Amino acid sequence: MGKKRLFTGLQPSGSLHIGNYLGTLKQTVGLLKDTDGLVMIADYHALTTLKDTGGLRKNIMDVARDFIAVGVDPKKTVIFQQSTVLQHTELAWIFDCLVTVPFLMQAHAYKDKVAKGLEANAGLFTYPMLMAADILLYDTDVVPVGADQRQHVEYAREAATKFNVVFGETFKTPQEKILESVAVVPGTDGKKMSKSYGNTIPLFGTKEETQKAVMSIVTDSTGDRPENVYNIHRLFKSEEQLSSLYAENKGKYKALKDTLVEDIEAVISPMREKRASLSDADVKNILKDGTERAREQAEKKMVDVRNKVGVTI
Ligand code: ADP
Ligand code: TRP
Repeated sequence: MGKKRLFTGLQPSGSLHIGNYLGTLKQTVGLLKDTDGLVMIADYHALTTLKDTGGLRKNIMDVARDFIAVGVDPKKTVIFQQSTVLQHTELAWIFDCLVTVPFLMQAHAYKDKVAKGLEANAGLFTYPMLMAADILLYDTDVVPVGADQRQHVEYAREAATKFNVVFGETFKTPQEKILESVAVVPGTDGKKMSKSYGNTIPLFGTKEETQKAVMSIVTDSTGDRPENVYNIHRLFKSEEQLSSLYAENKGKYKALKDTLVEDIEAVISPMREKRASLSDADVKNILKDGTERAREQAEKKMVDVRNKVGVTI
């Protein structure tokens, strides 16, 4: 039996934070060790929210660097940009023609936007079908994602099943992989860490930026230990190591935060160095190579899909 196929994607919509790393990237790197993997920069998904030419361009390069810095090996794993493999948008259209409007209206990304009274663009509405195409083009078995992406992988399974029923067995049904212990990494205010809440600790900021974020963690003095600090700390050190540290430093919030900074730094600084060692040319070459490898597989699948839907004459 061959290795399992892994596929995941990340939107280039801003700088990564430690929630992104611990929630998804770290487990992806672990899983890539014994799977056959593709990691994709979801630039067309980012376009549903980002309208900033230079910003998107920069973010794409940054995410590629981030993937490599955290340990994705471009020799082994295909790293590529969604927009450069046109088969993704092509297949998304076919899925759009299979699913209903009420079905897409249940998607969280769309529902949340509407609930906030904001106008959702049509791209955001059909977003799950583009994500389904991303995943299904490559006969994916496993999709490592953060908890908030669970529904999108369910949508991909649904799209696969719908297509298979209408046109015959074509797509494998993928499974999400969510690491529950760190499924939701808390931010500096104790709520889910998210760039939209302004409560993040950057993954690749300078040490000073890490320090600034850690010092801003909201502490409350009612309990025995500062829970918001502890809940982030436990993602970097074992509960055993922490129990003595927190017992010895009762009430000394500054000392605990200083230790947290050092513990975060111990993880991040080797990755930061790796990141700085990659030139723009290195990154572009890696993406070009990834595109070619991804496109070859995607096109093979689309030949079958086009035949089945009947557009080939
Ligand atoms: P943000 O919430 O900061 O906008 P994204 O939505 O861009 O983050 O998330 C990118 C990936 O990182 C997703 O797979 C998401 O599930 C994961 N992720 C984001 N924030 C967290 C968090 N606080 N804990 C765990 N995983 C997270
Ligand atoms: N929607 C995902 C996110 O916002 C990114 C993504 C796009 C993705 N296509 C994917 C993740 C395919 C996994 C598989 O985080």
